Amino acid sequence: MVRILAVNGSPRRKGNTALLLNRAVEGARESGVLVEEVVLRELKISPCMEIYGCKTSGRCVIQDDFQTVYDQLVACDGFMLASPIFFYTVSALTKIFMDRCQSLWAKKYLIEKRSFGETNPKRKGLFIAAGATRGKRLFDGTLLTVRYFFDTLDMEVWRTLLYRGLDLEGDVLKHPEYLEEAYQAGKELAIQLSGRSSM
Ligand SMILES: Cc1cc2nc3c(=O)[nH]c(=O)nc-3n(C[C@H](O)[C@H](O)[C@H](O)COP(=O)(O)O)c2cc1C
Repeated sequence: MVRILAVNGSPRRKGNTALLLNRAVEGARESGVLVEEVVLRELKISPCMEIYGCKTSGRCVIQDDFQTVYDQLVACDGFMLASPIFFYTVSALTKIFMDRCQSLWAKKYLIEKRSFGETNPKRKGLFIAAGATRGKRLFDGTLLTVRYFFDTLDMEVWRTLLYRGLDLEGDVLKHPEYLEEAYQAGKELAIQLSGRSSM
């Protein structure tokens, strides 16, 4: 069965990114795929400590909740990541999770000795972000980070849903069109991963 991992990197349980991600998850589930949800704020995940225990096994040696997420990440066919914009990048919760995936970077480049720049995206990822302001370059830094992160996961940045002008908890509810777009994206991702046509 097709598996999607959906990671929520917001400190708010019912914040804008959580509401958007929930709709994407609903869309995917209604299309018949298995979606596992991870809420980073509920987990105990240490930052990367740069001890590079992962250089030998490709697996992070810090024993905490990241271990389960690592297994889910390795096993999934598709990925959804949602984060609020904090100081023009992803939230600290999201960045800590990303940094722990340095173990996958080590596996790919140091253990399997794949060449840098070689892209072989076998999987598809959806990225969702919400920010309060409306600047043209609001998502520039974040998108660079996400691109290289997804690349490490052998994942194509299949689609990004980036929303400006969302600040207070639940602001996104004033924009049913954003929620609908997230729902449709989830549905389409599931359909594409299942090898079915969305037409
Ligand atoms: C620590 C912090 C930093 C933030 N930095 C930015 C920023 O750089 N640009 C911006 O547009 N909004 C910024 N915001 C606002 C959030 O992106 C916005 O409230 C967003 O909707 C929160 O999403 P959530 O409800 O999913 O947590 C910041 C908020 C916090 C708490």
